[in-house]
Amino acid sequence: MCGIFGCTSLREGVSRIIYDSLKKLEYRGYDSVGLATTYGGHIFVKKDQGRIEEVEGKLEISKLPGRCGIGHTRWATHGAPSKENAHPLTDCEGRIAVVHNGIIENYLELREKLASAGHKLRSRTDSEVIAHLAEEFLSRGLTIEEAVRHAALSLRGSYAFALISALHDDAIVCVRMESPLVIGISRDFVCCSSDVPALPPDVESVVIMNDGELAILTPQAVTIRDLGSGQQLPLKLLNKESIGGLVDKGGFAHYMIKEIREQPQVALNVISAPRAFILRLANELVKSDRVYLVGCGTSYHACIFGSYLLRLMADIDAHPVVASEFHDSCTRITPSTAVLAISQSGETADVLQVLRALQDKDVKLLALTNVMGSSITRLASLYVGLYAGPEMGVAATKTFIAQLLMLTRISIEAARIEGVNHDLTSSAERFLKSSAPLIEKAILVNELQTKDVAIDLASKTNAFFLARGINIVTALEGALKLKEISYIHAEGYPAGESKHGPIALVEEGYPCVFVCPRDETYNKIIGNIMEMKARGAFVVSCVEEGDKDVKEISDRTFVLPEIEPKQLTPVLHVIPLQLLAYYAALARGCDPDRPRNLAKSVTVT
Ligand code: F6R
Repeated sequence: MCGIFGCTSLREGVSRIIYDSLKKLEYRGYDSVGLATTYGGHIFVKKDQGRIEEVEGKLEISKLPGRCGIGHTRWATHGAPSKENAHPLTDCEGRIAVVHNGIIENYLELREKLASAGHKLRSRTDSEVIAHLAEEFLSRGLTIEEAVRHAALSLRGSYAFALISALHDDAIVCVRMESPLVIGISRDFVCCSSDVPALPPDVESVVIMNDGELAILTPQAVTIRDLGSGQQLPLKLLNKESIGGLVDKGGFAHYMIKEIREQPQVALNVISAPRAFILRLANELVKSDRVYLVGCGTSYHACIFGSYLLRLMADIDAHPVVASEFHDSCTRITPSTAVLAISQSGETADVLQVLRALQDKDVKLLALTNVMGSSITRLASLYVGLYAGPEMGVAATKTFIAQLLMLTRISIEAARIEGVNHDLTSSAERFLKSSAPLIEKAILVNELQTKDVAIDLASKTNAFFLARGINIVTALEGALKLKEISYIHAEGYPAGESKHGPIALVEEGYPCVFVCPRDETYNKIIGNIMEMKARGAFVVSCVEEGDKDVKEISDRTFVLPEIEPKQLTPVLHVIPLQLLAYYAALARGCDPDRPRNLAKSVTVT
């Protein structure tokens, strides 16, 4: 995680550009923030624990002098969130400064070597070794570029870093190895960034760095070299608009609510996305004897949904697997196996680790991601985009809906190729076509009601989210949303299983959120609601329009449009649960866009 940004410009005021971009990278971590610039042969550093605006208020980091600098927003891994561990980190003399995202696995060994060579390491981070290694190689007479290259070759792990030196008033050297890094070029400046949305508006073209590349940036030139050989590589310039635009809150209080409200548009994007790649991906799935859908967090919930649909609609032997638990012991990989990795960011380390481990094996690697040019798109032989637009809120919302809808499209294509389940596929297709207005309605109808229930929920410490069948996905996702942004402990559970232990927790007023479309599980779930009610639970239910029975026994209900096929009800029923989490976070005074301890892309395993 962590966000890094560097900029070298023809004009003064570079720290303001860095500061503005760090604000857009804050979703990647916000334990501490810092900035360093070169000016008059010196390096100036300002940094501290805390969020960017707090630190700016104290230190005015956006006012550092100079035309070249680097900045960092941190999600702590090695070393507690503190001023001393905040980046930029410097060498012994304060003549080199570095910002780093990722993990240096051999940092302990490197720290020991550097310390015995007389280096004074001041932080507890793994990152600081980079500055001292560069210092060490510089002292042996190498150029800054070669010193950084040799430093990087000493590192093991995943990293992207940017480094400045007092010796060069206008140069940034940066390296990418398994952590994202892009370069932005404008008329007046050149910059490097952990992601595209953080690039300043006047950037015209972009270079997406590959793993194992080093770049030297000056305001006039970008040079890319192969890290291993030092050989210069051709520059592949892309138009910025072709890989995603800029994002602001568009008048909303938070990105999360903006992104929830964008879901009807996302549905339109998904249903009008070009068919060719979806068809090719479906073809690969159909040709496979077995498919593993691999993801983490919300994307894993999409994997459960996708596996269910592929089995049901296209008779494909599909299985969801949590990426960090993808081992030989629980999977069987043969030449006719396919792995479909699902990741919003395309940078989640647990997912990339699965793909990297399988890269040299005879197995099809496929992907579904929202970020074109992300690492996952380079590891997979075939991928399909999600067309959701940049998602800035840490909690995934619109990309989850995009995943569900795209998996539905893929399952429909797969069923057609197999020539099975015509009625179900036609019904799913009809739903897709009308999904945008239905999602819109689900948001509008439930906005007030969810605000209201959120106020009741705000004083609680625990909640259950219970469902049966395909909506177990909805329950899991509803619970994840609530716990991650409001810090209310929430468990998603199969409703039928809840009597085998969890029910022991239920007492007067205990919140139980049920997902109850009128599908084949309806009567059974009424039984489960009654069991919880008998023990005093406060029952909130998601029901379809026209529902009477569940409404009658629930304390509160969220009403969703009635749809067919019922297998696609998670697309609508998850919406009030996203809103509930959002408003519960607000009611508890939590920042829904920046939940504690979390970051948008989890680039550590
Ligand atoms: C939850 C959330 C996380 C992510 C998970 C995977 O709201 O955002 O659980 O879903 O970290 O991230 P991606 O999809 O980028 O691989």
